[in-house]
Amino acid sequence: MSAHTDETHFDVEDPRLTRFDLVQEGARRDGVEIVHYEPRFPVPGTRRERRAVRSISLLFLLAGLLGVAFVVAYIAWPWQYKMGSGLDKLYTPVLGVTMGLSLTCIGFGLIAWGKKLLPEEIAVQERHDGPSDAAEARLTGETIVNMGDELGLKRRPLLGMAALAGMLPLGAVIGIPLVGGLIRNPHKGPDGGPLMFTAWSPNPELINANLSEPEFIHVGPVVNGFPLVGMVREDGSKIRPEDVSIGGQITVFPAIYNKAGIFVGNSNDFADSPTLLMHLRDEDAAVLRANLANVPLNQVGNTVDGKPAPNTWGNFVAYSKICTHAGCPASLYEQQTNRLLCPCHQSQFNIVDNALPIFGPATRRLPMLPLTVVDGFFYAAGDYQVPIGPGFWERP
Ligand code: FES
Repeated sequence: MSAHTDETHFDVEDPRLTRFDLVQEGARRDGVEIVHYEPRFPVPGTRRERRAVRSISLLFLLAGLLGVAFVVAYIAWPWQYKMGSGLDKLYTPVLGVTMGLSLTCIGFGLIAWGKKLLPEEIAVQERHDGPSDAAEARLTGETIVNMGDELGLKRRPLLGMAALAGMLPLGAVIGIPLVGGLIRNPHKGPDGGPLMFTAWSPNPELINANLSEPEFIHVGPVVNGFPLVGMVREDGSKIRPEDVSIGGQITVFPAIYNKAGIFVGNSNDFADSPTLLMHLRDEDAAVLRANLANVPLNQVGNTVDGKPAPNTWGNFVAYSKICTHAGCPASLYEQQTNRLLCPCHQSQFNIVDNALPIFGPATRRLPMLPLTVVDGFFYAAGDYQVPIGPGFWERP
């Protein structure tokens, strides 16, 4: 309260007052006593000051360069798995290191600015309540302008430009992941783009869509003119029905090989294809068969023998492993309750009702993969009939 008693003796319009007088008065009226105030460089432009400005500017420029490096790496670094190349493994570390160092440089630059260039000040502040009057608003305004002056940007343009050069790329670092997804058209390519199909599609054009010349081939027989895609383990070995015990499940991949004859169906190139093949108990399979009518696509999906048939084969069913919430692998199968749990956000899917989501954030069923068995081995009788994984804007 005492701070307000002297207001009448202080004319804020007095032209003889310096800005610092106004700042001090503003502080005093706010119950802030400036007990010590001393500029770091009473004589501007000394060698010591210039050295401090240069080193701080260097930190900001370094931050800018690292920000630019982040943006370039984000766009140009080869992030996709390529056999024999390890560069894809460095994609995330490179992004992390460039962004982390950029932020560190900005942080050190700001700290050094405060410690080396801003005036030394010790002030004691008291709280006060209520709105400010016009005079106090003026005093506060002058205080803010004074703070801007003390930053010394007018007198040290190099520092201002360096700070700007450092902050702008850092702004791009924050913005580019948002814009990055819009740079490439996700629907470019055959069949509506890669969001619309997986490597289970027997069409060789689709699995080679991004390559200048075909590199990958499917392996599987043609039945009644219908090409099938082999269903294999992680090591490329084929799977027989008796390999999966009742109540058991196994992760399967499309039998795709590269030109050198190496199995690549489990590689990052086909990361949308992991599928859970499940062997249901008789009573559970009966419930599923009754529920297939809830999703007509699953009831009539398999046309290998020339007439519509369910996507299931015997007591076996295969669902996409990619969670329809955010794409994690949904793979925790609770046999007793026939629920499939996604560990990321605890979505649960009812296996005996076409993988209906019954708990958690997922709202879409896991797509079912048409199954068949030829000569004792499992094959996919076509691709998923709806896009797998999380939703996207134009999802049909
Ligand atoms: Fe599966 Fe979120 S990704 S619940």
